[in-house]
Amino acid sequence: MPVVALVGGQWGDEGKGKVIDSLAAKAHMVVRYAGGDNAGHTTVNPHGTFRLHLIPSGIFYHDVRCVIGNGVVVNPAVLLREIAELRERGVDTRNLVVSDRAHLIMPYHTLLDKLEEQRRGQGAIGTTQRGIGPAFVDKVARTGLRVGDLLNATVFRSRLEEVMEQKNALLTSLYRHPAISVDDVYKQYMDFGAQLRWHITDTLPLIHDSIARGETVMLEGAQGALLDTDFGTYPYVTSSSPLAGSATLGSGIGPTLIDRVMGVFKAYATRVGSGPMPTELKDDMGDFIREKAGEYGATTGRPRRCGWFDGVGGKFSVRINGMTEVALTHLDIFDGFESIKICTGYMVDGNFTTDFPTRVETVARCEPVYEELPGWEERTEDISDFRQLPVNARNYVATISRLIGCNVSLLSMGPKREQMIEVPS
Ligand code: IMO
Ligand code: MG
Repeated sequence: MPVVALVGGQWGDEGKGKVIDSLAAKAHMVVRYAGGDNAGHTTVNPHGTFRLHLIPSGIFYHDVRCVIGNGVVVNPAVLLREIAELRERGVDTRNLVVSDRAHLIMPYHTLLDKLEEQRRGQGAIGTTQRGIGPAFVDKVARTGLRVGDLLNATVFRSRLEEVMEQKNALLTSLYRHPAISVDDVYKQYMDFGAQLRWHITDTLPLIHDSIARGETVMLEGAQGALLDTDFGTYPYVTSSSPLAGSATLGSGIGPTLIDRVMGVFKAYATRVGSGPMPTELKDDMGDFIREKAGEYGATTGRPRRCGWFDGVGGKFSVRINGMTEVALTHLDIFDGFESIKICTGYMVDGNFTTDFPTRVETVARCEPVYEELPGWEERTEDISDFRQLPVNARNYVATISRLIGCNVSLLSMGPKREQMIEVPS
């Protein structure tokens, strides 16, 4: 599998971290290509349980090069904390490199994220308040500072002064918030630069040389397709594209170099933050799934909204990512369920559709149409061969493949690295 993009198929938190940690055993390089520390990728492996926000999930293998690509927005304070935690727990981080082209999350970004959310009031997006949106705004507005700028004090200082004049004007006049000291930010970030110096580089040659040698490169997505800025439930979306197309831009390889696109889906649906979710269960069943699966945010600790698998969102996600295969996670959560519902279409304004609507107001009016499938009694967590799965579990997986128009090729049950089985084609 030379170059494979792993992308979130739903609203994030699909278990991308676990799938990547498992598959990275055979990889040479793992590249994060989008988002920032809004991501929370949980892995359970022989080193322990980890929640990574920025560092690629391949870091637990000493011979896998881990790259934070140009498409990521990097909060250096968070990155340094993450490196320190990994080191303390015996994980080697010398194989970590950060693109000098990646944009920096600055203190005014995190502050503005919070203030903007407060200002939105009832219409708040429910962001992770990590400064992601404001950092991507600056990137596109050409007022961003980049990781490489940390290594040039003069350039950094002059760019910072220019940008902060504008930010402080915004903070003080619109938000009535005290100004931030340029000197303090400058000193803090120069210190971050000194500590990160050996990780910062032009990552492009590393990635291309690895691909040219025929090595296996995994492109690690963050968030999920339904949070995409263009295709998600706008404006309840994140500020970068989680899609496979973005894997090319966010790492610096052309689309022709990607061999496979693996979508990661959970066997049910979750969403954290605001915005419509047609299959949301606001009842005991939703609570049951949340408690059984421990559906609380890895980044913010917020309870996640839970619901049945959404085949409409799934089909849409397969299409906009060009998925070639799917990894389905958390299937074991349904062990012991008498029956399981799966959404096969939406009724909206009297019409049946299997196409995900453009407008958020339309998505909010969609009523899911369900097919009810028989469940299974058996515990599936430790099954290591697809043929040993209960027939109803296999049937559930086949129904998902059919609905979304893409084959489920991997199943993940349980949190551990080795709890993963291949689905014969
Ligand atoms: P991983 O990589 C789930 C959600 C937030 C909010 C919206 C915008 O772990 O799958 P932002 O802070 O990005 O501006 O918030 O996006 N969100 C995620 N939800 N998993 C994630 O990442 C998310 N990253 C952002 O909850 O609704
Ligand atoms: Mg997460």
